[in-house]
Amino acid sequence: MKTVLDLGAYDGSASREYVEEGDRWILVDNHQYIEYDWSHPKLPKGVEYHKMDIMDYHEPADIVVCSNVIYHMEDPFKFLHHLRKLTKGKLILNTYLSGGEEPEWKYIYGTEEAHPHLKTANTIYYRPTRAALYEALEEAGFTIESKYEHDGGAQVKVFCV
Ligand SMILES: C[S@@+](CC[C@H](N)C(=O)[O-])C[C@H]1O[C@@H](n2cnc3c(N)ncnc32)[C@H](O)[C@@H]1O
Repeated sequence: MKTVLDLGAYDGSASREYVEEGDRWILVDNHQYIEYDWSHPKLPKGVEYHKMDIMDYHEPADIVVCSNVIYHMEDPFKFLHHLRKLTKGKLILNTYLSGGEEPEWKYIYGTEEAHPHLKTANTIYYRPTRAALYEALEEAGFTIESKYEHDGGAQVKVFCV
């Protein structure tokens, strides 16, 4: 039985394209993101949904998807180690990046750079440069297989095992 786990999933749209690779599809989200309408989340059929904090979720999965969540973490390194424990097969991680070539986790908490809406900006902590992200993924025990920058280089999707 193969599992696809989407962490910080909202409606699971980031993991939908991988669902056919698994038999179980699990979404985890604590509903903290106020920009979303949580009254009518368009949840896919057959999905298992856990309304809880990712750090309290401990069942490993074959395919782990984590899209635009790492910058919501107060401790992104602890978070990556948690993802390592949750990933039996591959990790697909997407995030917005900070500009620059040096490895740096830019602290943007509460700023307009994090988000123009103050309440949402107060849920965003660090945004990594690409070098910082790749270094931290490897330090957490992942091997990067491929990466794909998109959104004009503002975001990257990294495939790891
Ligand atoms: C920017 S949204 C991304 C949603 C979706 N993954 C996507 O890419 O479209 C971040 C999501 O992570 C959730 N989230 C943030 N921190 C979380 C945490 N500690 N535990 C569970 N969910 C969290 C938010 O509620 C929100 O739905």
